[in-house]
Amino acid sequence: VSVVVNLGGEGEEPGALNVNAFLYLLRPSFADKLSPELVIRASAHKTGLDPESVDLVVANHFPIQYDEIVIDETGARAAISDLAAEIVRVLKPGGRVHFGCSTCDRASLAEAMELAGLIDVHEVTGGYIDARKP
Ligand SMILES: C[S@@+](CC[C@H](N)C(=O)[O-])C[C@H]1O[C@@H](n2cnc3c(N)ncnc32)[C@H](O)[C@@H]1O
Repeated sequence: VSVVVNLGGEGEEPGALNVNAFLYLLRPSFADKLSPELVIRASAHKTGLDPESVDLVVANHFPIQYDEIVIDETGARAAISDLAAEIVRVLKPGGRVHFGCSTCDRASLAEAMELAGLIDVHEVTGGYIDARKP
């Protein structure tokens, strides 16, 4: 079975694990509609998932500003390099990323992914950045 993780997910990817920091939810009661094992309350840069346990990391409209992400309700931030490192940590070798962000600088996100060790980093339709782990 393929393990799919949706960072900032609100259940919009069927069957995926939703890692969500519960900050500015588009669908405030999304978690009530999912089995509890599909909802992980954590920030995307520190998911708590096992290393090399994920086949595909996706994100839709993930909020990034000035190359940082907000990680909790105090407004604390982490750099996109931390986000990219976490994606690399949890992916299995050969695992893939399909990452869509909102208000982000795609070129610098792509660069952060490359620096973290992902390969084939490229922009695809819809402004998503695709990449894979060697
Ligand atoms: C614009 S919504 C997008 C929701 C959904 N992915 C979609 O496309 O419909 C952004 C989501 O990211 C979550 N979020 C924001 N910062 C986060 C972080 N650091 N880690 C995990 N989730 C985060 C929010 O709680 C919210 O659910």
